Amino acid sequence: MPTRDLTQTAVRPSEATITCRGERFRRYLPADDIQERVEEMGRQISRAYADTVPILISVLNGAFMFTADLMRAIDTSCEVDFIKLSSYGDEKVSSGQVHELKSVDANLKGRDVVVVEDIVDTGLSMQFMLERLSAHDPASLRVATLLHKPEASEPDLTLDYVGFEIPDLFVIGYGLDYGQLARNVPDIYILDS
Ligand code: IMP
Repeated sequence: MPTRDLTQTAVRPSEATITCRGERFRRYLPADDIQERVEEMGRQISRAYADTVPILISVLNGAFMFTADLMRAIDTSCEVDFIKLSSYGDEKVSSGQVHELKSVDANLKGRDVVVVEDIVDTGLSMQFMLERLSAHDPASLRVATLLHKPEASEPDLTLDYVGFEIPDLFVIGYGLDYGQLARNVPDIYILDS
């Protein structure tokens, strides 16, 4: 089967390889495996927060899909709010500069907060966010990330719920983009190096 180019055609998953902005990616995490893991994470979070109403802080834009599925997998009461940080732009590597583009609206003082991220790569964004959110004086502050690149990441960062540990290669799909494309691909694809 020829490799589909996301910049040229409508998205029709699920193929073994796709190209996006001239780069070739191979399927790495099929949608079914992602759903299964997200449901496990939801059960884990439900158990941990059975006696409280946590607030999930979803990090826009990449975590919107994971957040929607994770929330549906949590079977106790929870709330959601959103924060937006500057992203990689159209690049595949971090600029090292993190800015807040949208802050949370909810009052987090005394709340049990769970930051929901699509991916922790260098960990710079997460560090920045945890510092920002700590200043709101929450009762507790934990992190749920679908993906983690341990080889790239700041070693001191504590990640409480991790979906999958992945190699230090660029990934797209399931909310993750390359120059804003591929967010709507249900499977996660990895750069075919
Ligand atoms: P970090 O600050 O390097 O940990 O990266 C934070 C943000 O960069 C993530 O929330 C993503 O939005 C984006 N990012 C990092 N790695 C990837 C990747 O492999 N694919 C797509 N986006 C990524």
